[in-house]
Amino acid sequence: MKCKQVVIPEFGAAEVLSFQEIEIPQPQAGEVLVKVAYSGINPIDVKTRAGLGWAAAENKDNLPWVPGYDIAGTVEGLGEGAEKFEVGEEIVGFIGFPVRGGGYSQYVCIPESELTLIPNSVALEAAAALPLAGQTAAQAINKAQVQEGDRVLILAGAGGVGHIAVQIAVAAKAEVYTTCSERNLDYLATLGAHAINYEFAPASERLSDVDVLIDLVGGDTALDALKCLKDNARVVTIPTITAELVCEKAKLLGFEASGMLVSPDAKQMETLLYMVGVGLLKTEIQHVYPYQQVVEAHQQVETSRTRGKVLLNMQC
Ligand SMILES: NC(=O)c1ccc[n+]([C@@H]2O[C@H](COP(=O)([O-])OP(=O)(O)OC[C@H]3O[C@@H](n4cnc5c(N)ncnc54)[C@H](OP(=O)(O)O)[C@@H]3O)[C@@H](O)[C@H]2O)c1
Repeated sequence: MKCKQVVIPEFGAAEVLSFQEIEIPQPQAGEVLVKVAYSGINPIDVKTRAGLGWAAAENKDNLPWVPGYDIAGTVEGLGEGAEKFEVGEEIVGFIGFPVRGGGYSQYVCIPESELTLIPNSVALEAAAALPLAGQTAAQAINKAQVQEGDRVLILAGAGGVGHIAVQIAVAAKAEVYTTCSERNLDYLATLGAHAINYEFAPASERLSDVDVLIDLVGGDTALDALKCLKDNARVVTIPTITAELVCEKAKLLGFEASGMLVSPDAKQMETLLYMVGVGLLKTEIQHVYPYQQVVEAHQQVETSRTRGKVLLNMQC
């Protein structure tokens, strides 16, 4: 049997994505061979494919490159000394971030330290939606030191990161406000947030006295949201491309502000899985595409209108 992979052979529009077939790799010492069931797509994959950002710069001499940082699947083999898992167990990983990637593959060898066991109570699809987006959400909420009773504004609560950030902030007993378009108002209300329709009016015209801003949009939208904050508010801005601009303006206004780059953490993954397992967190999956339809999947993520996550089914 062979292993099919999705590759970026050259930077460009979604249509450049193509397929290659390799021998199933052999796990080296300390590695696990994973049969990937689902691979998650993140905006960074789409930007890198277009040749934008530092992951593209790092991999420009390394094409064709297999993208993908989120995988969920089954342990298929173990390298020498790998003892954290057993063959047949279900695992999830935030793998090879930011340079190696490799998740859009039917089989992949991963250092066991990058993987986390999926409890029986969590479906593979739900787990695959968690790694990059879930850890970004958790790390942003931690960085902003969200406390019980804080008024927290999360821009783009319906997206991959946003829908998890909203739920973690609600679980921390914050009063959560979030921006979305009209079609996501009801969805975000069911997660326990006060949803604000940004198509109707900018956040600054609807909200004030906010303690914490979690910015998942950046640019002018983030600058407008700074007007909602009260003195000494905390700002965490996630889109790297406008982080400097947003932080500079926020600091000028007297707020505590920082950008953030998510950092893979297998222990944090356990906590997120636990939350899903006991029903404290629900991952939203807009669509699962067969990997052969990766072009359409990338085009969907590129719209910036995805509710929750988009996954690739790697075994169909
Ligand atoms: N620094 C890091 O480590 C890091 C990590 C992860 C993500 N990121 C970045 O963070 C951003 C969010 O990531 P993501 O995965 O959550 O993206 P995503 O899933 O593509 O976000 C899509 C969501 O954004 C909402 N949206 C679009 N424009 C909006 C606006 N003007 N106001 C409010 N909501 C808006 C959409 O809701 P509607 O359809 O209702 O408009 C949609 O649900 C991206 O720029 C990503 O690259 C950075």
